[in-house]
Amino acid sequence: MNERFEQVTVGDIVAADFRTGAVFERFGIDFCCGGRRSLPDACREASADPAEVVRALDALPPRATSDDDVTRWPVDRLIDHILTRHHAYVRSALPSIARHLAKLHEVHGARHPELARIATVFEQVSGELEQHMFKEEQILFPYVRDLGRHPDQACGVRISPFGTVENPIRMMEREHREAADELRLIRELTSGYMPPADGCTTYSVCMAELAEFERDLHCHVHLENNVLFPKAVELENQAAGG
Ligand SMILES: [Fe+2]
Ligand SMILES: [Fe+2]
Repeated sequence: MNERFEQVTVGDIVAADFRTGAVFERFGIDFCCGGRRSLPDACREASADPAEVVRALDALPPRATSDDDVTRWPVDRLIDHILTRHHAYVRSALPSIARHLAKLHEVHGARHPELARIATVFEQVSGELEQHMFKEEQILFPYVRDLGRHPDQACGVRISPFGTVENPIRMMEREHREAADELRLIRELTSGYMPPADGCTTYSVCMAELAEFERDLHCHVHLENNVLFPKAVELENQAAGG
């Protein structure tokens, strides 16, 4: 194992270089909800050959700019990025995918009975994600922005409705795992988002949309679990000591 990757978690590797996320996706390695594991552990879990994964990571060309190093971004910028790139995307994708799944169920449901289950699971994950993002936007993110803007403000002065920030973070991480599990179930029910031979164009479009939705969720959860949340905990600890 390349020593560069020995002491760090897969979440840290993607936080330091987002392009490694695509490599991990290719090998089926979970870097978002399961991001706090070492590379050997994550490889074992995904039945991937660690040497082959390290070769693929090493094959990435050097990066042109350091501005995409999200670990250096202030929390305000990180949160803006999460909102404009990921929350906005989720809100635009949900109704489109739901509409396509309803149509597929209507047209192909008789020959593909799994479509009913897929539509139900998707409806569930949609409702959960809407509520999840609302909680982040209304409660957690404003608090984290405040921590970032006033890092020296003592803990007792700042009004927090939830005690330490670790409490809502734990809840958000649990909801991330639930959403990731539901998407994994949809992936299994669709045999890896594969449209059937007798599927129409809407079928192919909808499978591509679902695949994109899961990919985006992994990046979204990664940015929160492995970059934003550790920063928030660190800022809160600083404030408590300051
Ligand atoms: Fe989010
Ligand atoms: Fe989240």
